[in-house]
Amino acid sequence: MKGLKEKLYDKIEEHRPRIKRLLKEHGETVVNEVTVQQIIGGMRGIKSLVSDISYLDPFEGIRYRGYTLPEVFEKLPKAQGSEMPCVEGLFYLLLTGDIPTESQCSDVIYDMVNRRQLPKYVYDVIDAFPNNSHPMAILSAAVMSMQRESVFNLRYHRGMNKQDFWDPTYEDSINLMSKLPVIGAYIYNKLYSDKGCNYQDPTKDFGGNFAYMLGKEKPYDDVSRMYFIIHADHEGGNVSAHTGHLIASSLSDVYYSVSGMINGLAGPLHGLANQEVLRWIQNLKEQFGNRLPTKSELQKSVWETLNSGQVIPGYGHAVLRKTDPRYTIQREYSLKHMPEDELFKYLDLLYEVVPPILQEQGKAKNPWPNVDAHSGVIQWHYGVTEYDYYTVLFSIGRSIGVLSNIIWDRALGYPIERPKSITTHMMEQIVGIGS
Ligand SMILES: CC(C)(COP(=O)(O)OP(=O)(O)OC[C@H]1O[C@@H](n2cnc3c(N)ncnc32)[C@H](O)[C@@H]1OP(=O)(O)O)[C@@H](O)C(=O)NCCC(=O)NCCS
Repeated sequence: MKGLKEKLYDKIEEHRPRIKRLLKEHGETVVNEVTVQQIIGGMRGIKSLVSDISYLDPFEGIRYRGYTLPEVFEKLPKAQGSEMPCVEGLFYLLLTGDIPTESQCSDVIYDMVNRRQLPKYVYDVIDAFPNNSHPMAILSAAVMSMQRESVFNLRYHRGMNKQDFWDPTYEDSINLMSKLPVIGAYIYNKLYSDKGCNYQDPTKDFGGNFAYMLGKEKPYDDVSRMYFIIHADHEGGNVSAHTGHLIASSLSDVYYSVSGMINGLAGPLHGLANQEVLRWIQNLKEQFGNRLPTKSELQKSVWETLNSGQVIPGYGHAVLRKTDPRYTIQREYSLKHMPEDELFKYLDLLYEVVPPILQEQGKAKNPWPNVDAHSGVIQWHYGVTEYDYYTVLFSIGRSIGVLSNIIWDRALGYPIERPKSITTHMMEQIVGIGS
């Protein structure tokens, strides 16, 4: 039976002629036109990137390689004694488009276990950070420090055929991905925990080992698997995925790319929204003397947040126009495992209260909750109450999609990215108001 890398090679060989044909026979076909609003407004909706790893439909939500999230959770092989699938199986799916068998998934687990060992200097880099540093800054630096390990960089400097770029990128990607949970757990234990376990358990999969290193009991292993899987990819244009792709397009190796992707994820309008949600809910809780407010009390607080010029964290989305299925997956988990959780009840009340208010305010194009509205509450329930840390978990998940994309970018020879900018004056001239 072919391993993941051999299978990927076959898929790449199959795919290359499709891109060649599109370029050769249809290179001049117009896909869309661009409006002034799109140019000024953050390039919303401009179709100008290719990603086969995932696709985001505004009303249906994300599909990974054509599979909806519920299908992904149903079809991927599960870790033994667990409800949730193995993250390694998701990586196989994202790379090849095929659902792995149990044994194909085990092969990837085995390969990744063998790549988990972190060089000593990475621990030193993490330790050198003052304890009041943001965990995302530490994570980014830890990844960056490992750039010297890049197989791509080494082979590029020795001289390598373009056709082969994907191969050392694949090696770098699995090396880095295997180590990210170890880095993440070490950061957590350094900053917050005196009882966390820093050692690894080679008998456990990606999610199971992460929970173990954090010193967390079951079902936190499943929470980790669920969390990494739902955050893995959200098509190509979001800040983190796009940043990773953009950096890699100059043939920077994946250590540069993933460190940059982490920096993009660390903004409150993107990945950091999950910590903002928790901070906001905790403030509300305090305001209400630790009790659940009535609907009208909560409505008043939501309006106060909006009227003070702040966004409601966890609500709205640049592409989605309905409740994020990643929110729904977490909600279903919570209804099953923690229905009486106090913060979950808060979330449920917010779910009732916030969308009609955002609709009434009439600004946000999407009044519904996104993934970040929910994720912190589950972490809090299982004792990960340091909300600054939540985006590190998002980063570990997101790296799986970003790295899969970069491997394919290299395989298909996508060029260095270089869109064109124009001046305000030029835009005025185009619309006929310039001198
Ligand atoms: C995600 C987000 C950045 C998308 O931005 P976007 O594509 O520009 O969103 P929209 O086109 O709907 O924005 C239109 C207006 O509604 C506002 N808006 C959007 N979401 C809002 C929210 N959750 N609360 C209040 N106002 C919001 C925007 O700030 C913008 O206001 P402006 O015209 O004064 O600049 C935005 O919805 C947001 O800030 N959400 C809160 C942060 C968050 O949850 N981020 C995680 C996303 S996964």
